[in-house]
Amino acid sequence: MVDRSIADIRKDYASRELLEAGSAADPMQQFGLWWNEALQSEIDEVNAMTLATASGDGMPAARIVLLKGFDESGFVFFTNYQSFKGMQLAENPRACLVFFWKELERQVRITGLVEKVPAAESNAYFESRPEGSRIGAWTSPQSLVIPGREWLEEAYAEQAGLMAGHHIERPEFWGGYRVRPIIVEFWQGRPSRLHDRLQYTLEDDGKWKRERLAP
Ligand SMILES: Cc1cc2nc3c(=O)[nH]c(=O)nc-3n(C[C@H](O)[C@H](O)[C@H](O)COP(=O)(O)O)c2cc1C
Repeated sequence: MVDRSIADIRKDYASRELLEAGSAADPMQQFGLWWNEALQSEIDEVNAMTLATASGDGMPAARIVLLKGFDESGFVFFTNYQSFKGMQLAENPRACLVFFWKELERQVRITGLVEKVPAAESNAYFESRPEGSRIGAWTSPQSLVIPGREWLEEAYAEQAGLMAGHHIERPEFWGGYRVRPIIVEFWQGRPSRLHDRLQYTLEDDGKWKRERLAP
């Protein structure tokens, strides 16, 4: 066993800064800037993000999903609408997304309202997926208890047999969600825990307010 106390693990962040002068007035533009830098940094699974949801009575759950698109209207991911997250989003259509790009010492947190993307958008993305993933979407009752691994593999093989030679349409229970941001926070690690935090909040007039938060 490695003799290293968890409490002693820490890192000093020194390589970058996030100042008002150097940041965009619109958080989606700022996200675009950081996204491009993250892409150039060849971060592994750069589009992996934590998605936090909560049930109607406030019990939280979080998991990783993949960002599949973003623009002024929000951030899109795809999943099974009948999954646990789908159930929570039906009860409480709010979510929080968190990116951690450790190579850049950066975190982005997005809080917003969630809606399903139009069917045509889900269809287009589903069509772009590899055949195995499309069959998998049909096969897996995501988040339900199943009898075992064997059951899943048999269900997949059966589904693959049924679908062989056919065009595999998107199941209605599978598709995209868009998180429309209300609050977006950009965090840049700095020395001595004096990190930079810029938070953008959407105001009633549709404009974004930018404020600095204490680290
Ligand atoms: C790197 C990574 C990427 C993932 N991407 C997705 C995704 O895009 N969509 C998805 O439904 N699940 C994805 N998952 C699986 C989810 O984390 C989760 O297990 C699944 O969606 C069921 O979550 P739920 O029971 O809370 O609904 C991913 C997991 C990892 C580790």
